[in-house]
Amino acid sequence: MKQLNYPSMRFLRMAGLSLAMGLATLASAQETSYDVRHLANEQNIVSLSASKKYLLLPVEDNAPEGKVYIIVDNNRQGEEINIRLARKQVDYYVPLDLSAFAGKAVAIDIQGTPSSAICWKKLQFSDTFDLTNREKFRPVYHHTPAYGWMNDPNGMFYKDGVYHLYFQHNPYGSTWGNMTWGHSTSSDLIHWNFEGDAILPDAWGAIFSGSCVVDHENTAGFGAGAVVAFYTSAKSTPWGGSQSQSLAYSLDNGKTFIKYDKNPILTSDQPDFRDPKVFWYAPDKHWVMMLAVGQEMQIFSSKNLKDWKYESSFGAKQGAHGGVWECPDLVELPVEGTKEKKWVLICNINPGGPFGGSATQYFVGTFNGKRFVNEAPTQTKWMDWGKDNYATVTWNNAPDGRCVALGWMSNWQYQAVLPTWQYRGANTVARDFTLYKKDGEYLLKSAPSPEMKQARGEKQSFPSFKVSDTYQINQLLPRNEGAYEIELSIKNAGASRVILNLLNEKGERIDMYYDVPRQQFVMDRSESGLTSFSKEFPAVTVAPASETDRIQLRLFIDRSSIEVFGEEGEYVMTNRIFPSAPYNQMSFASDRGSFTVESLNVYKIK
Ligand code: FRU
Repeated sequence: MKQLNYPSMRFLRMAGLSLAMGLATLASAQETSYDVRHLANEQNIVSLSASKKYLLLPVEDNAPEGKVYIIVDNNRQGEEINIRLARKQVDYYVPLDLSAFAGKAVAIDIQGTPSSAICWKKLQFSDTFDLTNREKFRPVYHHTPAYGWMNDPNGMFYKDGVYHLYFQHNPYGSTWGNMTWGHSTSSDLIHWNFEGDAILPDAWGAIFSGSCVVDHENTAGFGAGAVVAFYTSAKSTPWGGSQSQSLAYSLDNGKTFIKYDKNPILTSDQPDFRDPKVFWYAPDKHWVMMLAVGQEMQIFSSKNLKDWKYESSFGAKQGAHGGVWECPDLVELPVEGTKEKKWVLICNINPGGPFGGSATQYFVGTFNGKRFVNEAPTQTKWMDWGKDNYATVTWNNAPDGRCVALGWMSNWQYQAVLPTWQYRGANTVARDFTLYKKDGEYLLKSAPSPEMKQARGEKQSFPSFKVSDTYQINQLLPRNEGAYEIELSIKNAGASRVILNLLNEKGERIDMYYDVPRQQFVMDRSESGLTSFSKEFPAVTVAPASETDRIQLRLFIDRSSIEVFGEEGEYVMTNRIFPSAPYNQMSFASDRGSFTVESLNVYKIK
């Protein structure tokens, strides 16, 4: 690469040349000029007059991280931004919103990026930023961030017909950093609109995971119906990191938030102290906050959402402890077919999942508003038997008494290297939780939310067929774009293995089978497509499946994911996959006896 040896250089950019420009803007292209001064120690000052809404910053995912500060009149504006500015190649652009400084002279202080980096020549200005990301692995009917990195779902609440979903967002790159609450909304849990970033880092730190409640009774005094958000303020300082809980409230249904002037509201000397989940405990008319603290969950109570009292801790000698506990939740669920209800404590753990890395475990028991008691203390219960369901939490204030949950469809083992660029991260499909009882044990049922049936489009049905050796379907859908559901019911007649594989014309495949003697459903994604980006990615995942006579299955495939729901959610397996073309064939085989596929329907998802 040519070395650029200049102390200062002036660039003229036609705004209309930007990658992200729409045609309308192209017509009204106007010149924006900027000036770069390279100072000592990899410090650079970009001077400009803020005449366009965005400065588009070129990013290279593998470049080292530097820092960006906006300076007006010799003063820093807002918090520092960590960013991997392009040194050798531009992977994608991210927008730096300058609209608050319209017409002003702005200096962008960029530290930790050498003068030889190509970013200095690649800065662009624009009034728009293109959100129509066309990457081939971007799911169609799963929530993804419009751009940038995403991890945990946060602050989920339902109000006035709208599901609100906030998420751990890095608006300045597709790797983790600058944690901010991005915001998306949906009326059907399937089609999501990006509403922008709702809660931005501040003096108390980055904005880590948390929850929102609707304060119907105005217990906090922000107003009846105010939406109150709780999140972890996370800061690293030269004398160590700190995590504390903060609060912000919204008087416009979650669009914008006002940060509470007495933040932080809860502090600790524990290094891992985070992810507040707040909910209303009706019998005692108080609020409850669950917090993940090291390898336990702590429970607090409050009458006014501002002052919190420690009540109890849960976790010692319970369940899996292979890693730190994160993102708690506590919900009361009906037991199917009875009038009984039980409390379920949701505990995300990383690492220490059954197939390595992150996973979600849960405990079933009682809760009296202050203390949770696990009724099966010797068992570990997993919510999902794949590698890619983490940080699962539920919607507050969901309609009709439903308990609707959402997970982050990934694993900390490899999220940072998944083969996508301008965005990275996806959520699972929404799931409705209930409990069922099997052999005296209470287990969680995660059914695909009923909205998934309304999303069914074009249908392809296959007449019943018997498999005594092998059976092949050459075309699942006429124009398969990789976003569909397969619904199957199978009657087993003595097969010891019921094998069903998904394949594409490149020979890539997902192998699945029921191991009847072991009562297991197994998935192998090691030949599923791109897998070499991480040695932790090729994997075989196994779920307990006691029903192997009459099998009911729903498989949701969406470009780069597969979610298997057995027996309407008695077990679930969520795995990411990166096939170079959609799987459009299915092959069946039986080992020993035979089985009959009594119904097989494939639906495009709208
Ligand atoms: C879980 C988690 C949370 C934390 C957030 C930071 O994935 O580690 O505990 O709040 O991610 O992004």
